[in-house]
Amino acid sequence: MKATIINHPLMSHKVAMLRDKNTNTKQFRELIEEITVLLTYEAFKDIPTVPVEVETPLERTVQQVIPDNSVAIVPILRAGLGMVNGVHTLFPTAKVGHVGMYRDETTCLPQEYYCKLPKDIGGMICIVLDPMLATGGSAIAAVDLLKKQGVSRIKCMHIIAAPEGIENLHRTHPDVQIYCATCDRELNKDKYILPGLGDAGDRLFGTK
Ligand code: PRP
Ligand code: URA
Repeated sequence: MKATIINHPLMSHKVAMLRDKNTNTKQFRELIEEITVLLTYEAFKDIPTVPVEVETPLERTVQQVIPDNSVAIVPILRAGLGMVNGVHTLFPTAKVGHVGMYRDETTCLPQEYYCKLPKDIGGMICIVLDPMLATGGSAIAAVDLLKKQGVSRIKCMHIIAAPEGIENLHRTHPDVQIYCATCDRELNKDKYILPGLGDAGDRLFGTK
């Protein structure tokens, strides 16, 4: 399987509201966060757990928990920032590394302008965040960066993907698990996703 696409009425409802051009910045930000919580729940179905002893009011029992420092959150700036709180809702102590990328307006190729990752990121499961997976160039470049830092367990989480983006990311990094709320029809000539939601960064931060 190239990507996990979430098939759930709550997800399609919230993504429909997100797409709507009349959704304002505050609603857009809240929806991105809520959708990310739902995606995170699905993406970490396979996270390793360890046994611990717990004493209930009635008896001692052995239960499974997720060890501290299992997960690092890596948003791609800018739009990935909108998804950080959603992951923190479920992993409140997760460290955050930032990767800055923008798409060159003529070539649509990603240009890296910032990278600051936690020192001990190599042993963690990294979740790369970006609401939009269009050509896949930005996500591929972010995964390249993480692998250079020794990270071997990487997941990519997107809200809207284009078939081309999933294909390119999977072909370049077949070991990376990809999770998307939805997969749209196609890219237009400017490499925007159709039907999509427009420019995620601008809608999130009110810059247009
Ligand atoms: C958008 C989006 C992704 C990228 C997706 O960012 O948030 O990072 O485009 O396109 P790709 O899959 O073709 O690489 P943009 O470059 O507009 O930067 P911004 O988040 O700062 O607005
Ligand atoms: N980046 C966006 O914000 N939206 C798209 O449709 C494609 C890239």
